[in-house]
Amino acid sequence: MTSQAYLSQLFSLDDRVALVTGGSSGIGRAIAGALARAGASVVIVARREPELTSAVEELRSGGCRAAWVSGDLSTREGVRTAAEAAAALFGEPDILVNSAGINLRPPMTELTDDVWDTTMAVNLEAPYLLGQRFGPGMAERGFGRIIHITSQQAHRAFVQSGAYGVSKGGLESLARSQAEAWSPYGVTCNTLVPGFVLTPLNSRLADDPDQVATLAARTMTGRNGLPEDFAGAAVFLASGASAYVTGQSVFVDGGLSVH
Ligand SMILES: NC(=O)c1ccc[n+]([C@@H]2O[C@H](COP(=O)([O-])OP(=O)(O)OC[C@H]3O[C@@H](n4cnc5c(N)ncnc54)[C@H](OP(=O)(O)O)[C@@H]3O)[C@@H](O)[C@H]2O)c1
Repeated sequence: MTSQAYLSQLFSLDDRVALVTGGSSGIGRAIAGALARAGASVVIVARREPELTSAVEELRSGGCRAAWVSGDLSTREGVRTAAEAAAALFGEPDILVNSAGINLRPPMTELTDDVWDTTMAVNLEAPYLLGQRFGPGMAERGFGRIIHITSQQAHRAFVQSGAYGVSKGGLESLARSQAEAWSPYGVTCNTLVPGFVLTPLNSRLADDPDQVATLAARTMTGRNGLPEDFAGAAVFLASGASAYVTGQSVFVDGGLSVH
C-alpha cells in the first residue's frame, strides 16, 4: 500500500457530507476548507451572504464541492429552517461542526437577560437542536461525527466574559451527553477547545498589541492560534481514524491550558 493510500484510508472524507455552522469566518472557515479539501461536500451556514459567498467561491475554485445557506441560528425557527435548507443541498450530513458562536463580553455585573438569552441560543441551543435533528439519522446510518468548538472558558474564567464561558461549559457537557447517546451506533461527539485565536470574534482584544503579546507568552509555543491550526484536528475528528475517540475535549491551544 502506498503512503497516499494509507493516509486516505485513515483520513479521507470522500463521499461524506459536512455541515459547518460559522463556516464563513475564522475557525469555522478554516475547518470547512479542511473538510472540503479532504473530500467532503460541505455546506456552510451563517447570516452574512457576502462572507458566505466568498468562502464557498474559494472552495469551489479549488475544485471542492461546497454550498451555503444563510440562516440566523439565534432562534429555534431559524435553526430549523437552516437545517432543512442545508440538508436539501447535498443530503443528510455525516459530519456536523458547530463553530458559529458569539462573545458579547459584558462582565457578570452588567449582564442583561437579552445578552444571556442570545449567547445561550447561538452558542448552546443551536448546537443542541442541530444534534437532535441530525444525530439520530447518523446513528441509524451507523456513522456520524459531531464536533463542537468550545473555549478555554469552558474550563476557567477569562477576561470577565460573563455568560460566554457558561455557554461553552454547557457545550462540553452536551458533547458528552451526545457521545453517550450515539457512540454505540458509530457517532462520535467531541469538542475542539481553542485558546486565543486571531479572528474577527476577538478583534477588540486583538487590536491591543500588549494584550496579544501577553496572551502569546502564556502559551508553550510562544504564539497565539491561527484558524489553520484547527485543520488537522478537525479532519481527524471527522474521519474514520477517530472512531474510538468520543466524549473528549481536544485542546488546540499551543499549550495555554497546561502552562
Ligand atoms: N477566536 C478565538 O480566540 C476563540 C476562542 C475560543 C473559542 N472560540 C469559538 O470558536 C468558534 C468560532 O469563532 P471565531 O473566532 O472563528 O469567530 P468568527 O470569526 O467571529 O466567526 C463566527 C461565525 O459564526 C457565525 N455566526 C455568528 N452568529 C450567528 C448567528 N446568529 N447565526 C448564524 N451564524 C452566526 C458568523 O457569521 P455571521 O456573523 O455572518 O452570522 C461567523 O461565520 C466560536 O464558537 C467561538 O466561540 C473562538
